[in-house]
Amino acid sequence: MRVHGIPTRTIQPLADGSAVEIIDQTRLPHRYEIKRLASWQEAAEAISVMRVRGAPLIGATAAYGLALACQADTNDTALHAAAAGLIETRPTAVNLRWALERMLSRLLPLAPGQRREAAWHEAAAICEEDVAQNQAIGRHGLEIIRAIHQRKGGAVNLMTHCNAGWLATVDWGTALAPVYAAFEAGIALDVWVSETRPRNQGAALTAWELEQHGVPHTVIADNAAGHLMQKGEVDLIIVGADRVAANGDVANKIGTYLKALAARDNGVPFYVAAPGPSIDFRLASGAGIPIEQRAAREVTHIAGRDVEGELAEVQLTPDASPALNPAFDVTPARLVTGLITERGVCAASTAGLRGLYPEEGANFIPLPTSP
Ligand code: MRU
Repeated sequence: MRVHGIPTRTIQPLADGSAVEIIDQTRLPHRYEIKRLASWQEAAEAISVMRVRGAPLIGATAAYGLALACQADTNDTALHAAAAGLIETRPTAVNLRWALERMLSRLLPLAPGQRREAAWHEAAAICEEDVAQNQAIGRHGLEIIRAIHQRKGGAVNLMTHCNAGWLATVDWGTALAPVYAAFEAGIALDVWVSETRPRNQGAALTAWELEQHGVPHTVIADNAAGHLMQKGEVDLIIVGADRVAANGDVANKIGTYLKALAARDNGVPFYVAAPGPSIDFRLASGAGIPIEQRAAREVTHIAGRDVEGELAEVQLTPDASPALNPAFDVTPARLVTGLITERGVCAASTAGLRGLYPEEGANFIPLPTSP
């Protein structure tokens, strides 16, 4: 995508292999800052504190983290230590494990002297594949939006949650790839952007992306979503996923489940856009997905720009009130209208996923759908 007219990706290696550059997403939308990561430890820190976030970008950053580790030391022990440090950063997005396993299985069979070049090459391949997968998701999702547009004969009102746009991936995004494709195809649409407390990825990141691209959008409080659906103001919802289980259950940003419930009650189609690396074929159902618990401070405090334009954080709650901060929830497959993948749209079910990914048979752990 473009930032200030310049083609940009969320992560880019320097030509000399000394570092990778990322957009520091903790500073958006008020500051656009590029940060260099020069070691696997810096890559791990960037994932932990969410300078980079979003399942596919977490995977891509971890892959480059191993390339940076190789830059320092190509021995087995060093690579295992880096992978162990990187996997600890965030538990829910399966792309992290996927990327690290792919990197290690590519590198460890090689002689140490061959690993450095192979690591940069493999990390770049992961990024290129991510871009292609997201473009394909965009094409498949476009047809869903087009059908609604033709039936309705007017602008499509689409709702999304969190940020599953290009900032959450290497480029294009998952849930927002169909939005960009529809916008480029000249289909009139308007996006409801739910703010996504407590980290406000919707208000800060999705709104920034859409504004940069000129896509009409409106930010809403998370709690306004059900009301808008009841009033007939939402034609469809598309969200991303941090992990899809083999039966089609979906872990995504906290609050996704509530939107899916309201969508079902109001007959609003609820789609989840997810590429292959976000699907955990080894996990029978969403009940087994680890839910990240983040710091209470993300709930008790809020960050933004003050009237002087300075970045500031203010406290919302009484000093002594405890807070709980589960970062994700699981939406049962039965509430999902369909999964939009790079291979097409399928039912959120074991059979649906098996149909699109038959080669994953050995990994599949089928289970009845969740209650
Ligand atoms: O905590 P985050 O910001 O990493 O959570 C991101 C999400 O929940 C996204 O919706 C999900 O990763 C899909 S990204 C294409």
